[in-house]
Amino acid sequence: MLDDYETLIAPFSVGNTHPRFFGWAHGAGTPAGMVAELLAGALDANCGGRDHIGPIVERQIALWAAEAFGFPAASSGVFVTGTSQANFLALLVARDAALGHDVRKAGLGGARLTAYASVEAHACVSQAMELAGVGSGALRQIETDAAGALRLDRLAAAVAADRAAGLTPFLVVGTAGGVNFGAFDDLAALADLCAAERLWLHVDGAFGALATLSPRLKPLTRGLERAQSVAFDFHKWAHVPYDAGFLLVRDRQAHRGTFAAPAAYLSRAPRGLAAGEDWPCDFGPDLSRGFRALKVWMTFQTLGADAIARAMEAGCAHAAHLAQRIEASEAFELAAPVPLNIVCFSLKRDATGEANAEIVMRLQERGLAAPSTTRIGGRTVIRAAIFNHRTRRSDVDALLDAAVAVAAAPTG
Ligand SMILES: Cc1ncc(COP(=O)(O)O)c(C=O)c1O
Repeated sequence: MLDDYETLIAPFSVGNTHPRFFGWAHGAGTPAGMVAELLAGALDANCGGRDHIGPIVERQIALWAAEAFGFPAASSGVFVTGTSQANFLALLVARDAALGHDVRKAGLGGARLTAYASVEAHACVSQAMELAGVGSGALRQIETDAAGALRLDRLAAAVAADRAAGLTPFLVVGTAGGVNFGAFDDLAALADLCAAERLWLHVDGAFGALATLSPRLKPLTRGLERAQSVAFDFHKWAHVPYDAGFLLVRDRQAHRGTFAAPAAYLSRAPRGLAAGEDWPCDFGPDLSRGFRALKVWMTFQTLGADAIARAMEAGCAHAAHLAQRIEASEAFELAAPVPLNIVCFSLKRDATGEANAEIVMRLQERGLAAPSTTRIGGRTVIRAAIFNHRTRRSDVDALLDAAVAVAAAPTG
């Protein structure tokens, strides 16, 4: 079987453990995470509920996350697959906060909710509106400034217009590290506006929220500590093996009230295995679920938050170096600001981006480097996201050198 694994499986993985993998927003794993996965498999724990170590470690991770983000220790937290799912659950909690928990039984009825996020927000926010039955048409996609931050004046105007039209604004989704190029919204200003307008502030911090671990990057997240909820992934910038998404909610009762169900077979007992007040299944829709907390706990216990933060800072430094080289390049130009660890660039004379897309495919197919693409300003651009803790400056240099060579001989 292991021989089959070596020949049939291992060579055909996407390659995100390789230092020249720059695509999408992938973590790169660690030996500690790998051992934790093996041990979790040996325990075969079901962490939906009951009184055992799985939910206790999950609670510990929620406490760590609350400390990292400046949330109260009583905040509730739950592991999910990823930030797409965490954003969806947060939207449901915000919906209940606006309409009351009766909405779980009665449905939306005639409520006409509206939500707000920047045009840089991840597509899963729009999908969450659809899944929740609110409808993606009720998501106002607000224009951004040159740095990619949601424009406050446009947000305030949109909320006012919706209220004037008899609609019910209920949620603002701030972005901490946008998927395209790592843009941050001004979360403190969003928190002010949400407090004044009595709106739920949820932050999609899929990878950017963990920037709070780095003293150098933390200022980008100012205001995060005032959000009602945060969605983020341990499997991206913290390199915990897939999957390890997390939702942290300030108001534990609001969170519990959205999901807890009074099923007889989930009754709590004063003692024994059914003891314990809150179970993870009270904070999300999953009942059967694995021991994701173990790999997070073991990763942080082994490496320490400081080492993880230093790896993030190194990725940002490599991105700044790559950006500098692109600015000096004859063939390529930057396609977006570089506030973090993501560099979007384009051939100088590629109006549609077709040639950029071709370069990316050739780099991937030839095994030279693996950037991905995105669309910025209507054109497909090359996107290098430097998440991997194994990436060195020589690897980003190799990426650009290979891109220049492929661009010079695109059919060669
Ligand atoms: C900003 C942002 N939000 C949400 C997501 C979706 O997260 P996941 O893939 O863990 O569902 C991503 C993924 O890259 C992201 O970058």
